[in-house]
Amino acid sequence: MTSNKLNIAVIAGDGIGKEVVPEGLRVLEAAAKRYDLSFDFKEHDFASCDYYGRTGEMLPEDWKTRLEGSDAIFFGAVGWPDVVPDHVSLWGSLLKFRREYDQYVNLRPVRLMPGVPSPLANRAPGDIDFYVVRENTEGEYSSIGGKMYEGTDREIVVQETVISRHGTDRILKFAFELAQSRPAKHLTSATKSNGISITMPYWDERVEEMAKNYGDVKVDKYHIDILTAQFVLNPDWFDVVVGSNLFGDILSDLGPACTGTIGVAPSGNIDPTGRFPSLFEPVHGSAPDIAGKGIANPVGQIWAGAMMLEHLGHKEAADGIVQAIETVLSEQKLRTGDLGGPLGTVDCGKAIADALS
Ligand code: NAI
Ligand code: MG
Repeated sequence: MTSNKLNIAVIAGDGIGKEVVPEGLRVLEAAAKRYDLSFDFKEHDFASCDYYGRTGEMLPEDWKTRLEGSDAIFFGAVGWPDVVPDHVSLWGSLLKFRREYDQYVNLRPVRLMPGVPSPLANRAPGDIDFYVVRENTEGEYSSIGGKMYEGTDREIVVQETVISRHGTDRILKFAFELAQSRPAKHLTSATKSNGISITMPYWDERVEEMAKNYGDVKVDKYHIDILTAQFVLNPDWFDVVVGSNLFGDILSDLGPACTGTIGVAPSGNIDPTGRFPSLFEPVHGSAPDIAGKGIANPVGQIWAGAMMLEHLGHKEAADGIVQAIETVLSEQKLRTGDLGGPLGTVDCGKAIADALS
């Protein structure tokens, strides 16, 4: 059931996370006014390297209790490598949320926005507009395997890919439903069943089986090698692209790269069942090189807020935010420095909130 009263856990984390999250909240507040929503934001200081400095842990023992009742988590960025090694900060926080909250969908929009130069020639806003759906819990990233005869000529390493029916079907179902909800109703599956001859034909089989439930969705598949080429050559061919953990990982960086700067890209880590809160964040990290200067682009964070609203059933408000972002980005004088504009983080956030109001 869609509710107008939303409980949001807010975790700014480190570096520019602390600068862009307040702008994300500003725009969500503006959306609340316009679309008759009400937010209860609960800010948390854990999942940050400051918290680690004080406590020796990234998360408190009772983090789940503290996040209880949250409809979603609005997340900035974590990491301050000079103080805490990245594997400690990331595994101790973000990856715990993803796993323990079974956020099995990683969702990234790939959309060319006005004012954002695409590295691809002759592409205009509107030409590129699709989603990458990545399986986020199994596949190639398994911990099954090992090493033998270490340090000898016979040294061997094995790491198994795990493709389960449960894991495959649930990501495909999400991707098909997303495709069905969009005008183009087109799903592309990333495969490699010519080379990976056991798990990938199985993946294809599950796609065919799932397709039977979505007769109105047009389905095609590409081997991952040519698919990456088509992302660059013909990005307008795609609507919803679904892939295993590894293929999705590659595609979900390549897609946004084809549409410009890291400062504007958002992402969702989603448990579609709603059993656990899903987490929405910008794609970028804590950017220590520019942190504290007030120059970070807040658009990735603000767009993550739009994804969060869409996930919570407020599509109109989500579309409103994306439109406000487009309005602001199309004016050079309202952009941040990374896009050749004069504004700082706060003024850009205010401009988007104003455009929404
Ligand atoms: P990064 O994304 O923080 O920065 C890469 C480059 O892009 C930097 O030059 C930065 O200044 C620029 N940049 C990033 N966001 C920007 C924005 N909003 N506006 C303007 N410029 C922006 O990646 P990096 O430097 O590899 O990682 C820094 C820290 O962030 C590390 O500790 C890393 O582990 C962490 N990280 C965390 C992520 C997360 O919380 N999901 C994701 C990626 C990295
Ligand atoms: Mg990646």
